[in-house]
Amino acid sequence: MLNFDFHNPTHIAFGKDRIADLDKLVPPHAKVLILVGGASAEKTGTLAEVRTALGARQHATFSGIEPNPSYETSMKAVAQIREGGFDFLLAVGGGSVIDAVKFIAAAVRFEGGDPWAILEQHGRNVTGALPFGSVLTLPATGSEMNNGGVITHRAKGAKLAFGSKHTYPVFSVLDPTKTYTLPPQQLANGVVDAFVHTVEQYLTYPVDGAVQDRFAEGILQTLIEVGPRILAAPEPVYADRANLMWTATLALNGLIGAGVPQDWATHMIGHELTALHGIDHARTLAVVLPSLLDAQRATKAAKLLQYGERVWGIRTGTDDERIDATIAATRDFFERMGIPTRLSAYGVGADSVDKLVAQLEAHGMVTLGEHRDVTPAVSRRVLEAAL
Ligand code: NZQ
Ligand code: ZN
Repeated sequence: MLNFDFHNPTHIAFGKDRIADLDKLVPPHAKVLILVGGASAEKTGTLAEVRTALGARQHATFSGIEPNPSYETSMKAVAQIREGGFDFLLAVGGGSVIDAVKFIAAAVRFEGGDPWAILEQHGRNVTGALPFGSVLTLPATGSEMNNGGVITHRAKGAKLAFGSKHTYPVFSVLDPTKTYTLPPQQLANGVVDAFVHTVEQYLTYPVDGAVQDRFAEGILQTLIEVGPRILAAPEPVYADRANLMWTATLALNGLIGAGVPQDWATHMIGHELTALHGIDHARTLAVVLPSLLDAQRATKAAKLLQYGERVWGIRTGTDDERIDATIAATRDFFERMGIPTRLSAYGVGADSVDKLVAQLEAHGMVTLGEHRDVTPAVSRRVLEAAL
């Protein structure tokens, strides 16, 4: 096992009717800015519930944070916070709203010029942030219990990630019934995103991280079990939604990644696909991962065989046959979740590959993966094989 630090300060309030606990979780004299995405928080009644729970505290609402949240919109919130003297932020939404609030919280306190520099330096230059909490409405990213965020600079066409010890939520409220209004494609996105988060921290090379491996395999098996059942269910089933919500959080709260190598090449290539073609985050992962696993099958062989055996029950054939069957099972799972795994399904052709590779180079994404061997030439092969 590798050396590691593990410190996760986020308080999780999980279960039905937990939004009422905001009264205990938010400091009593806070002046709160609630931040939401488009119309969903208002339509579903969650925003009204949040306002009621805040009681007599002063509060206002900033709405309009878009999926794949933008630097431009985030900076409008920064201006409102400075003008209004808000001292506590409350994100109500999915990963996009929570990520934007992390960036906004850090940008308000940033003294190094244009806060876009936070993204350019991936958060290394963050020295403080306003405190914030979240009410999660979409299980997928794990943003509710980690310190990472991904922000898009629309004018620059760049989607970059950052993280800092200052950008953990103080608390996150996870009420599984808040997922009942999600459309099937967002539920499927959530399952696939959490699945790929797990794979990024598990499918590398063995370091005898026995319990990390078994946690990761348990997360993957749970997603394989509940994902298709959630899509097929005529009415939402609380137990399945609760399992999806907690599983997605555990997939990216630092636990399974502590003490093991991590990959993240699929995510970095995927971010370029979202920036250039607007494809949903999870859908980019479903396209890139099978192709990347195939391209990296030699260096990932030991873990691919372990994953195939323990998660998919693939035990017969030569090593190459078992790896082929394992990658095919992964692709088939994404397709069963209604998520296409080829770029052609999203209208992206061979003519886009040059631009995508150039963007990876422009963003310094030239030595990706657990061995830093996913060069632009490898990313090109991965994208071409995903057409
Ligand atoms: O904008 P509204 O109207 O709220 O609608 C949203 C949005 O259109 C809707 N939605 C959310 N909760 C709902 C709901 N609709 C009905 N009922 C509800 N309860 O769902 C749509 C998508 O929301 P979004 O927040 O964009 O989705 P997700 O949670 O998948 O977040 C994706 C973003 O997270 C980043 C991605 O890159 C992407 O920008 N990621 C963040 C990570 C992190 N912080 O650790 C890691 C991930 O790998 C990922 O990169
Ligand atoms: Zn992701």
